[in-house]
Amino acid sequence: MNVLSIVGSPIKNGVTEKLVDELTKGIASKNDKVEINKLFLQRQEIKPCFACQTCQKLFNDKCVIEDDMADNYPKILAADVLVFATPIYWWNVSAQTKLFIDRMYALLHKDDVSNFAGKKVILINTYGGERPNSGPKIVDRMFQDMCKYLNMDLVATVAVYTGKNSEEEVQEAMEHLFDLGAKL
Ligand SMILES: Cc1cc2nc3c(=O)[nH]c(=O)nc-3n(C[C@H](O)[C@H](O)[C@H](O)COP(=O)(O)O)c2cc1C
Repeated sequence: MNVLSIVGSPIKNGVTEKLVDELTKGIASKNDKVEINKLFLQRQEIKPCFACQTCQKLFNDKCVIEDDMADNYPKILAADVLVFATPIYWWNVSAQTKLFIDRMYALLHKDDVSNFAGKKVILINTYGGERPNSGPKIVDRMFQDMCKYLNMDLVATVAVYTGKNSEEEVQEAMEHLFDLGAKL
């Protein structure tokens, strides 16, 4: 199994990254032959898509923009499981995550979604605002639609509150994610 974690929080070793690491530890605990790669987007240069549409003419799984996405494309293609871990920023994914998702466009071949089809997706959201909180729901909905469009299987969405007095909930979420990984 090939797993690619995409960490969209700018905080190194923050809650978002720790949660994704628990999931991948769980996956590794039950799979001898697993390859796990992690992209920490904050340390990458990923420029915004400027809609030149060259990728939709050449279908070469590349983008004309020369930046760190060039190395990410083969990793996305090789992955059986994509783990998106993002903090909620303004009721949505972080800007780092959105830049990455927009640039996945280069792997789409018009209506042919075969570069994505069949992959499993796990979404981890962290949020610190008051509850009830629509941010995680909005992002889950976005991922449901994106995965349906790309024929990917959104196997789980885990939203984790990280605000005041959240230590116990975060700990429970860590355990839940480890178990989820072990069952994958
Ligand atoms: C720019 C910014 C925007 C945020 N917007 C929201 C929001 O809309 N809703 C929410 O519940 N939390 C919001 N938060 C809080 C983060 O989602 C929360 O602190 C998150 O758990 C951070 O995880 P990390 O420390 O792993 O990066 C925001 C934080 C920042 C810095």
